[in-house]
Amino acid sequence: MIKRPRRLRGSENVRRLVRETRVDVHSLIYPMFVIEGENICEEIPSMEGQYRYSVDRMGECLEELLAAGVTSVMLFGIPKVKDEVGSQAYAEDGIVQRALRYAKEHYPQMYLITDVCMCEYTSHGHCGVLCDHDVENDETLKLLAKTAVSHAKAGADMVAPSDMMDGRVAAIRAALDEAGFTKVPIMSYAVKYASAFYGPFRDAAGSAPSFGDRKTYQMDFHNAREGVKEAILDEEEGADIIMVKPAMSYLDMVTKVKEAVNTPIAAYSVSGEYAMVKAAAKMGWIDEKRIIAEMAVAVYRAGADIYLTYFAKEIAELIREGYIG
Ligand code: PBG
Repeated sequence: MIKRPRRLRGSENVRRLVRETRVDVHSLIYPMFVIEGENICEEIPSMEGQYRYSVDRMGECLEELLAAGVTSVMLFGIPKVKDEVGSQAYAEDGIVQRALRYAKEHYPQMYLITDVCMCEYTSHGHCGVLCDHDVENDETLKLLAKTAVSHAKAGADMVAPSDMMDGRVAAIRAALDEAGFTKVPIMSYAVKYASAFYGPFRDAAGSAPSFGDRKTYQMDFHNAREGVKEAILDEEEGADIIMVKPAMSYLDMVTKVKEAVNTPIAAYSVSGEYAMVKAAAKMGWIDEKRIIAEMAVAVYRAGADIYLTYFAKEIAELIREGYIG
């Protein structure tokens, strides 16, 4: 036999030598929830091990991340007051804006990315302003642009629109540039599917739509070419990074989008993916650590350069141990 693939699997040394996928702690982004109020660090029932932090306690989380070597976070805000137009999304003293100022001052070594969307801030839970029970695209663009600028003013290093309105990357780029934030990159949730995997997040952020669903703006999960189209459009509009979301059931899209655009590719392993792992592990039905490792490596193997995951700290630990990477 001339070809014996097992030769390169004979020892841990040779296996590590020929590894095709390398995982780097610096490519991890940890999504975290900040909530209005004081002295709050409350566990999210559907996401065991994940918490909502008030600004005065978010440092606890940031310190743990930094200690683990994770230096990027994605901030989600949970406001006290919601209204029709989501005005707390772009309020100067909004929850994300206050969290940004606090984190910038106390943890300058942390890279702060913000989710730009309306659904946590609107009384109806949709990702923009409504007209006849549907989200009005072009009116929403103005509010998204305003939100992005207010985040940049408060210290955001990068903004990440997740609303799925058409033309939002161009609108946000123009507004950021006009306000002098030419250096703030945009990571676009470009290939974002209408997905049941967001269930626990909506619970965590209280952002489930009060009627209907998000199918008129988020993508139909039957479609792949449409995802490539979205990625190309957002690259043309000036997106610096293109994201695919969810991750686990959409790895084909990570690979396809990687070939279609020349930006770095991010994949977001969302709340439902996290919750499934946690629940099965709690039942003793899976080995949590090994599952986390496989899920993470699969995302990079599919072509992702960046991985957003609630398991960021655990993955950092797996890399440090040499278990993956
Ligand atoms: C806001 C937003 C959502 C998520 C990220 N940004 C929720 C949604 O679209 O319903 C989901 C993240 C997760 O499930 O972990 N639009």
